[in-house]
Amino acid sequence: MKTVVAGLSNGKHFGVSLAKKSGTGKLKYIFRKFPDGELHIKFGSQVKGRHVVLVQSLFPNPNDALVELFLAARTARGMGAKRVSAITPYLCYMRQDKVFSFGESFSAKEIAWLLSKCVDGLFAFEPHLHRIRSLSEIFSVEAKNLSARSAISDFVLKKFSRDNTVIVGPDRESSQWAKKIADAVGFDSTVLEKTRFGDRKVRVKVTTELDWKNKDVIIIDDIVSTGGTVVQAAKEIRKRKPRAVYCICVHPLLVEGALEKIMKAGVKEFFSCNTIEHKSNCIDLSGVVAKELK
Ligand code: R5P
Repeated sequence: MKTVVAGLSNGKHFGVSLAKKSGTGKLKYIFRKFPDGELHIKFGSQVKGRHVVLVQSLFPNPNDALVELFLAARTARGMGAKRVSAITPYLCYMRQDKVFSFGESFSAKEIAWLLSKCVDGLFAFEPHLHRIRSLSEIFSVEAKNLSARSAISDFVLKKFSRDNTVIVGPDRESSQWAKKIADAVGFDSTVLEKTRFGDRKVRVKVTTELDWKNKDVIIIDDIVSTGGTVVQAAKEIRKRKPRAVYCICVHPLLVEGALEKIMKAGVKEFFSCNTIEHKSNCIDLSGVVAKELK
């Protein structure tokens, strides 16, 4: 079965790189928005009997991005595609991973239900699995969590030296990246304690001290959204007089001027994976997906 890749509106950058790395054909895809906000999608070539791989990061504009993916998947199926897979490098709504208070939607589950209805399989990077332990708990089709850890480890090893670098996870949940990456590359690490008071307000405390003096410190987290977590972590770390503070994240949402706030808090450089297109993208994850398509 021949595989063809289509990069949807938020997936063009990743799709181009994926098609190159996997040696698959590119599917011509045309998208536009009507003046009233409705979406129009169209495939420019035949998909009958093919494995159609739709690449769509579900940020920015997660709601539009979801509808676009839904329309593209249903259209490919309607045109006779043999298999339709979604690559959602960033899978949205995953932080709403339980009913936190009465009457609330369990959005992660509902979005997984919708996607399971229109694709045969899905791949996502580091989809914020905290209270939900596996995508199979919420998806009824094959859904795979891909890891960014080895690509980040390679980047860290190229750019930083083991002798004078330490890695920090800004909260307990981040230890699945920060601690594991630090262990993989043999760097010292610590995980901070975070208390959240609202969408934009957090307090971060250092509970286990490291030898910070003259060290490069890398904060590693999965998502950077408002930047509040990284800003508070950077401020706490800088009180300990390291040489410089850096940040690496998997998903650079960076809303409400987050990057500017992070730089103002004294972070020297900010690096991200290309799950969401952004000027800070330095770590290409398309090779991880290419291996899965082989
Ligand atoms: C939370 O569990 C995540 O891992 C991130 O730490 C969080 O989403 C970051 O959000 P913000 O940048 O708004 O502090």
